[in-house]
Amino acid sequence: MQLHIGVIRGDGIGPEIVTEAVKVLNRVGEVYGHTYSFEELLLGGASIDVHGVPLTDETIEKAKSCDAVLMGSIGGDAKTSPWYQLEPSKRPEAGLLAIRKALNLFANLRPAVLYDELKGACPLKEELTEGGFDMMIMRELTGGLYFGERKTVEEAGVMTAYDSLTYSETEIRRIAKRAFDIAMKRSKKVTSVDKANVLDSSRLWRKVTEEVAKDYPEVTLENMLVDNCAMQLVKNPKQFDVILTENMFGDILSDEASMVTGSIGMLASASLNETKFGLYEPSGGSAPDIAGKGIANPIATILSAAMMLRFSFDLDKEADAIEKAVDLVLKDGYRTIDIMSEGKEQIGTAKMGDLICERIQ
Ligand code: IPM
Ligand code: MG
Repeated sequence: MQLHIGVIRGDGIGPEIVTEAVKVLNRVGEVYGHTYSFEELLLGGASIDVHGVPLTDETIEKAKSCDAVLMGSIGGDAKTSPWYQLEPSKRPEAGLLAIRKALNLFANLRPAVLYDELKGACPLKEELTEGGFDMMIMRELTGGLYFGERKTVEEAGVMTAYDSLTYSETEIRRIAKRAFDIAMKRSKKVTSVDKANVLDSSRLWRKVTEEVAKDYPEVTLENMLVDNCAMQLVKNPKQFDVILTENMFGDILSDEASMVTGSIGMLASASLNETKFGLYEPSGGSAPDIAGKGIANPIATILSAAMMLRFSFDLDKEADAIEKAVDLVLKDGYRTIDIMSEGKEQIGTAKMGDLICERIQ
């Protein structure tokens, strides 16, 4: 198969971790007979440096012409980077939000899995995680608070800021359907997370989700308030299969879920629209403090590439091969610094990529 893939290397550790994911894709190509054409795209700080803005029409058009896009991470150190002297709408993060909107990537899948090998890195007591856990956070990605109207104005001499949170039934229904479809392929449970005891948008969310659930009689739907969910994630993470939630709650809960797996450096993510197109990126950030040192964990990006093969190209065997190779590398005792523990061998970014490639047969 010939795969046309957009590559956003991004900022901070982005270029290093993307290099490893591309290496792994090339290895998969050799073993399974696929060829690639990679198209380099600029986004975030890297785009500001060249064009003065975090996202250009050219990047959007090029991304649309690709079958899928692989991304590192964007953003810099807000205290020291000149990107943060710019007005908020011109900063790196604004580019990421804008490309999600432009490509209509409303469904963000963030799997949080506890690897047996990394149990030691999980901050929870062993009795809470015995047997591991495996959840999929389904975050709505193009609506809600991050895309509502906002302004900061002076009212009667007092500075006042507004952010608005809006959801239409159409937006809720399409993401809910995706969550139920995915639950059908997993353990058939959806936990829909909202704040329906306070917010109108959450009450509509709950109503529409309950309607969608009627079309999936095999799937159990549970509604959970977001504050309770934040607590349940550390109290009993094993109870979750698919967590369905709106944009901001998903942003926060997915970081929390990643930490209970031990390291955010392990977590992949996929952002999908109505078609097979997707943008695949690690759940973690650009970690400017360790950029360029060759120590970042490339596994989340490599696993994001596996998600790309699975969701955009239906190459399940190939995706399985990458996931298995990651498992093997961990079993063989290799660790990047973020997941290092006693008795294991600490290695850098490039070596991790090489060792994963060697295990793809
Ligand atoms: C994420 C990030 C982004 C988000 C930021 C960088 C805008 O935190 O992908 O979770 O909030 O969506
Ligand atoms: Mg986030």
